[in-house]
Amino acid sequence: MSIQETVFVTGGASGIGLAIVEAVLEKGWRAVVVDRDERSLLQSRAALEQFGAQAHFMQLDIADEAAVVQAVERCEAEFGPITGLINSAGIARDVPSLETSADLFRRILDVNVIGSFVISREIAKRMCERHIGSIVNIASVSGIRGNVGRVAYGASKGGMITMTQVMAVELASLGVRVNAIAPGPIETPLVREVHTDQIRAEWLARVPQRRYGKPSEIASAALFLLDHVHSGFITGQTICVDGGFTAAGLLGQ
Ligand SMILES: NC(=O)c1ccc[n+]([C@@H]2O[C@H](COP(=O)([O-])OP(=O)(O)OC[C@H]3O[C@@H](n4cnc5c(N)ncnc54)[C@H](O)[C@@H]3O)[C@@H](O)[C@H]2O)c1
Repeated sequence: MSIQETVFVTGGASGIGLAIVEAVLEKGWRAVVVDRDERSLLQSRAALEQFGAQAHFMQLDIADEAAVVQAVERCEAEFGPITGLINSAGIARDVPSLETSADLFRRILDVNVIGSFVISREIAKRMCERHIGSIVNIASVSGIRGNVGRVAYGASKGGMITMTQVMAVELASLGVRVNAIAPGPIETPLVREVHTDQIRAEWLARVPQRRYGKPSEIASAALFLLDHVHSGFITGQTICVDGGFTAAGLLGQ
């Protein structure tokens, strides 16, 4: 008997998270849309109206450990077993190393690494009991390359990639897979806020495909990693969905 797939998506009300929620729902699975931003949650609820009760919405700050523990418990009690987790909630700031305060660094680590970790721990405990589950962390190419201005953000995404490997190894024999996606530049509200014209020109000069990616292109990779039928023997990996950015050396004209 196959169980109903239910995917918990943090940052699910915007950008990459929202595109993943849409892909999950279009596949006929259920989605729990989790976000701290009330307005985005309301907008996504309206945009996803056609999926009815297949979509659930929860307001949650993933950096609040006690709230996360309660929310996961409540979610399973109300909607049943969570079979997939996407950690897409994240914050980014573009600040040179010499101007980055410890406070800013801590805030970014708190959300991107520790928040994603606590959610993963709480959900993975339950997945391990049932011996099935897939966790996908949305990292970044900035966690793999030394991109200027990303000392805190890049370190947080590098931390997510290492967390992916450690949890994948620890949970492999318990039936839970943990992978990461490292997107290159993707057109989302977060990017529209952070990327100036100069930053955009720099990316376009260094991405071999010479374009930004679409949120739906990250969603396709996420769906593949969530689906045990297609990716059941893949764990601990980071897939770069980046138009060739991390592969590139000299680019020619
Ligand atoms: N867009 C890109 O180019 C790009 C590239 C690489 C990696 N990423 C990563 O992809 C993920 C999604 O980014 P996006 O571009 O879709 O951004 P986005 O701002 O459109 O969406 C992020 C969502 O996360 C939510 N969020 C932030 N902090 C939260 C918290 N503490 N608790 C709950 N929700 C919170 C926000 O409210 C927002 O709705 C992020 O982790 C980002 O670092 C994005």
